Amino acid sequence: MQTVNSIAALREQIAAWKREGLTVGFAPTMGNLHAGHISLITEALKSCDKAVSSVFVNPLQFGPNEDLEAYPRTLADDQKKLEVAGCDLLFAPPVQEMYPNGQAAVTTVSVPNLTKHHCGVSRPGHFDGVTTVVTKLLALVQPDRAYFGKKDFQQLRVIKQMVADLCLPVEVLGVETSRETDGLAMSSRNQYLTTEQRAVASTLRKTLINAAEALQQGETVEAVFEQSQQALTAVGFKPDYFNISDADTLEPQQGCYQAGQNWVILASAFLGKARLLDNIELIATKTQQ
Ligand code: PAF
Repeated sequence: MQTVNSIAALREQIAAWKREGLTVGFAPTMGNLHAGHISLITEALKSCDKAVSSVFVNPLQFGPNEDLEAYPRTLADDQKKLEVAGCDLLFAPPVQEMYPNGQAAVTTVSVPNLTKHHCGVSRPGHFDGVTTVVTKLLALVQPDRAYFGKKDFQQLRVIKQMVADLCLPVEVLGVETSRETDGLAMSSRNQYLTTEQRAVASTLRKTLINAAEALQQGETVEAVFEQSQQALTAVGFKPDYFNISDADTLEPQQGCYQAGQNWVILASAFLGKARLLDNIELIATKTQQ
């Protein structure tokens, strides 16, 4: 696997592949790779000739009091994992390469309707940072297909909308969440958990499964919300949001779920220093368990 740090070297390799008529699959990441990231590369290699990944801890998507400095940077390890996975090219630019004019002056891409709720409220400005950097990365890599984890459900939905609205010539694909054996969604931020916190962390997943079942059995959104908050706080979580929403518009719902509706429960909760994120789609509940 080749690693490039400059836009010029990236463009050169991509152009050579395009001249040969090869298709490119792309998995953007912020590094500190785990099995979830590697599954994006595996998916890319199933349907594309070449797999490209990026490792870039994007400062634009971190708020002033968030973990930008602490975010784990493990490039050498990431390179080894990508190599083993069969990745062909890694783009790992310094911040200056992506934002040569500084971060304040950068052109911003925004998807306002889908970022009104959930992480859009908890992390103001976060999604503008994500959509801005993903637009730049897609412009640079020019992939035929781009792969994102379904753990970040709202991010995936926002990126699909952005790509549709901006007519970007790329197919955006969601890849199933990779989980630890107890159900905890894999995340680079899980390493902030202490041993005690790790032992209860999968309660987030279990609470989502219970909530989905309760809704399917006719309980109201309001009742399920209360039960879920209690279940999370009982084991030490500080719930950030637990929103039962339409899976397409991401608008929070009320009342009772009707069979066939496409709903998703989006949850975020703090456990000590870690902010955990997970979701469950109602129509897909059985297969996800
Ligand atoms: O999901 C992530 O790791 C990041 O938000 C992404 C898509 C790589 C953009 O920085």
